[in-house]
Amino acid sequence: MKHLLKMLDLTTEEITEILNLADQLKYEQKHGIPHKSLSGKTLGMIFEKASTRTRVSFETGMYQLGGYALFLSSKELQIGRGEPIEDTARVLSRYLDGIMIRTFNQSDVETLARHSSIPVINGLTDVSHPCQVLADLMTIREYKNKLEGLKLCFIGDGGNMANSLTIGCLKVGMKVSLCIPEGYDPDKEALKFAKNFSDFELVREPRKAAENADVLVTDVWASMGKESETEKRRKDFAGYQVNDEIIALAKPDVMVLHCLPAHKGEEITEKVFEEHADAIFDESENRLHAQKAVMVKLME
Ligand code: CP
Ligand code: NVA
Repeated sequence: MKHLLKMLDLTTEEITEILNLADQLKYEQKHGIPHKSLSGKTLGMIFEKASTRTRVSFETGMYQLGGYALFLSSKELQIGRGEPIEDTARVLSRYLDGIMIRTFNQSDVETLARHSSIPVINGLTDVSHPCQVLADLMTIREYKNKLEGLKLCFIGDGGNMANSLTIGCLKVGMKVSLCIPEGYDPDKEALKFAKNFSDFELVREPRKAAENADVLVTDVWASMGKESETEKRRKDFAGYQVNDEIIALAKPDVMVLHCLPAHKGEEITEKVFEEHADAIFDESENRLHAQKAVMVKLME
């Protein structure tokens, strides 16, 4: 494993290794046991989109591992004025030990990685969010003590979260039921991968998808970059809400996850959100531990 660009690149063994290390790092942090294996190392964090969790968890994580993180807004980098990604990659490789990037196009992350001599980590693109899915798998395993055989149901937009969750969950032996309105289907690459699994379904009817789910997940209807479609999406996604009716169809001990930020009253009701807030904020916390594991694996 040289970079973390998308879930598809990780083997099942690599996912398990990251989750095991994340559990260990969480234990160490909770018990005040220092883990400074990235002492003296520096991570550059390029942001072309907003962030609360990704920025703070990477920056804090790097500090806890003994390293240092630089926040690099693309607006203030020469990249924002047209300097090629290829050249940015070669320059940053001379200064840093790793790069985290949040941007629009997956191809930009892949170009950056191709021209970097240091590890590149995808901190979200329009089509993938691998760091979030590693934290989600870690949280599911914490609550359910296993992953294999559990049914995850995702209701909402076939965007970065649906794509990465589908691939990540199928790789670890989970069943995946995606419920996406017509016209908002997941990425072709994710669907092509998923079609090989009998434990995968893509349906239009939320009530069918949620049946006997162990885990229910949703995400905003209009992701970053899609704000101009907000009104149209509100109409197209009406009926694709995680609410009491959906919860009643899932297993009695269903856990609800949301990568956040949430638009309560749209993709999830405030009531369901608050009833499952413990798991949702554990999921947020686990971004820190999962990403520390990724950085140790890639940069140590
Ligand atoms: N879930 C997530 O990636 O959050 P941020 O956009 O705040 O980083
Ligand atoms: N799908 C959302 C996730 C935010 C973390 C977005 O891309 O805006």
